[in-house]
Amino acid sequence: MSGIDILGLTIDNPVVVGSGLLTDQERNIRKLLANGAGAVVTKTIHPNPPTDLDERILRLPVGMINSTTYSKRPVDHWLNVLSSFARDDLPVIASVHADSPAELGVLAAQVQGTGCRALELGISCLNEETGLDDNPDRVFAYASATRSHTSLPFSVKLAIGEGLEDRVRAAIAGGADAVTVSDSISGAAVSAETGTLELGGVFGYSGPGIKPLVLAAIWRLRKHRFEVPVLGCGGVASGRDVADYLAVGANVAQVYTALHTDMFATLERILSETAETADSAGRSVQATA
Ligand SMILES: Cc1cc2nc3c(=O)[nH]c(=O)nc-3n(C[C@H](O)[C@H](O)[C@H](O)COP(=O)(O)O)c2cc1C
Repeated sequence: MSGIDILGLTIDNPVVVGSGLLTDQERNIRKLLANGAGAVVTKTIHPNPPTDLDERILRLPVGMINSTTYSKRPVDHWLNVLSSFARDDLPVIASVHADSPAELGVLAAQVQGTGCRALELGISCLNEETGLDDNPDRVFAYASATRSHTSLPFSVKLAIGEGLEDRVRAAIAGGADAVTVSDSISGAAVSAETGTLELGGVFGYSGPGIKPLVLAAIWRLRKHRFEVPVLGCGGVASGRDVADYLAVGANVAQVYTALHTDMFATLERILSETAETADSAGRSVQATA
């Protein structure tokens, strides 16, 4: 498979490990890359992460609900780790967010100072206590503040749902080089014992159940002539899932929830299935040429 250009990086294959608890540790990120991930997105780095929330994950038959927010590791820790990734020329995308657009701009500039080459704005997490009412103005404010503080390529991570196309337009208008679709979406599970909501509320739902919804959203973006690079994300658990994302117009596919089961073995399987799919696609193109 020849290199794929995304966010200024040329990566070996279209499988990118998405942001989450598994990418909150330098050791995991290095090992995911050593095992062949095209790139890895860090857990979202935040100067002031909430510390008073009960952050948990709940496995469902069709995915996962999580009430986590941002990395609890201090910004200085991340700046050191990102510098060491940059020294080793590793394809790491720093996920960043902050309490205000101006603070995000400052953080983006600090990250650029480490030599890190790409950013993802993790601005669409719905697990903060107030919940998230995302809208184009908010997306534009965060994207344009980032653009005014850094020349780094960046993707804005958005959740599918109401007004997605307007939010994508706002990200592009704010200077984004790509969008990541999708963050986790609102989900709830009821406890059979208590009849109340598991984890105490509505939180981020991810995994196989969201894949058809995300595929549809990306397909619609392409149908409506959006040409912005798209990092597709939601429910990838096999090489076939990666191929499906590329088929609807994503440039690369991110994988996250699937890696909560046998992280490295699962990644290796997805990578080898992806290589096989690409090989057989190559063969069939040659056969019909
Ligand atoms: C436990 C957990 C933690 C996550 N943390 C983050 C995060 O810090 N920043 C972020 O942008 N997305 C985060 N996500 C969202 C994932 O990166 C991904 O967008 C979403 O789960 C959909 O993809 P998937 O179905 O392959 O997991 C998290 C997801 C889970 C399940």
